[in-house]
Amino acid sequence: PPVSIIGVPTDVGAGHQGARMGPEALRIAGLVGALQARGVEVTDRGNVDGPRNPWLPPVAGYRHLEEVVAWNRALLEASTAELRAGRMPVVLGGDHSLAMGSIMAVANHCRERGRKLRVLWLDAHSDFNTSQVTPSGNIHGMPVACLCGIGPAALTGLGGHAPAIVPQQVKQIGIRSVDQEEKRLVKEHGLDIYDMRYIDEVGMKRVMEQALAGLDEDTHLHVSFDVDFLDPGIAPGTGTTVPGGVNYREAQLVMEMIADSGRMGSLDVVEVSPALDDRNITAELAVDLVESLFGKSTLMRD
Ligand code: ARG
Ligand code: MN
Ligand code: MN
Ligand code: MN
Repeated sequence: PPVSIIGVPTDVGAGHQGARMGPEALRIAGLVGALQARGVEVTDRGNVDGPRNPWLPPVAGYRHLEEVVAWNRALLEASTAELRAGRMPVVLGGDHSLAMGSIMAVANHCRERGRKLRVLWLDAHSDFNTSQVTPSGNIHGMPVACLCGIGPAALTGLGGHAPAIVPQQVKQIGIRSVDQEEKRLVKEHGLDIYDMRYIDEVGMKRVMEQALAGLDEDTHLHVSFDVDFLDPGIAPGTGTTVPGGVNYREAQLVMEMIADSGRMGSLDVVEVSPALDDRNITAELAVDLVESLFGKSTLMRD
């Protein structure tokens, strides 16, 4: 389907400021042209609007809850409109809290059409914290829990149907930083996690075969790509880098295998922070990998 680019220039969910410049950095790195070069029909819808970052301390375990709700409501509306028009939303962040609005739109769309939804969460983090256990209050550490119905009603109920998804629909890849209490919650709720240790031991090819197993024609695949999934050596421009991440070749394989599945129906590219980057290389790498998600191949035999 044709693609609609939606920018969400916010970092109200993050612990560093800078991700609000992410959408422009991805545009400057040539995202639109790269998709057009793949033969994809693409329209850049510009950015959604929301409140500025007030940079306040947490209140009852949440930083900027009201602002995060406002941004997600705006994105939910924008993304829903694109899906209804038969278009594929490609959401440019912005911090990862925006995955709530993005995935709630997709979940509603799938529910209305009787389609299955699977979420591929490419990240160093599980983003499964709650206000009780968060070490930071930053809501970008909570979107997966909120999507699964664990969190404040203002977020869990935003899409009108809580929970938006169940943990079994989520496959997380690249995980290597989960807070202690968060780990307990992740285990309790049965998230399917392919952490770095597993990737090292089993290899990325088999990991992806497992994460993509069982996709059929009736499955919509949502890819939520936090650039801190990548090793900080190749992707320094993000607020919560963790050593020991996915390398360039592994990342290419992930993206190419997703493309080969033919099931991707929506995409988030989040946590690009130009304020922390080195000459926009993180945005440029993200665009290179998005090209692969849309079928650009490193294979000789295609
Ligand atoms: N677990 C940490 C926290 O909750 C870090 C979360 C980082 N999340 C992200 N989307 N970059 O504060
Ligand atoms: Mn994340
Ligand atoms: Mn992360
Ligand atoms: Mn590429």
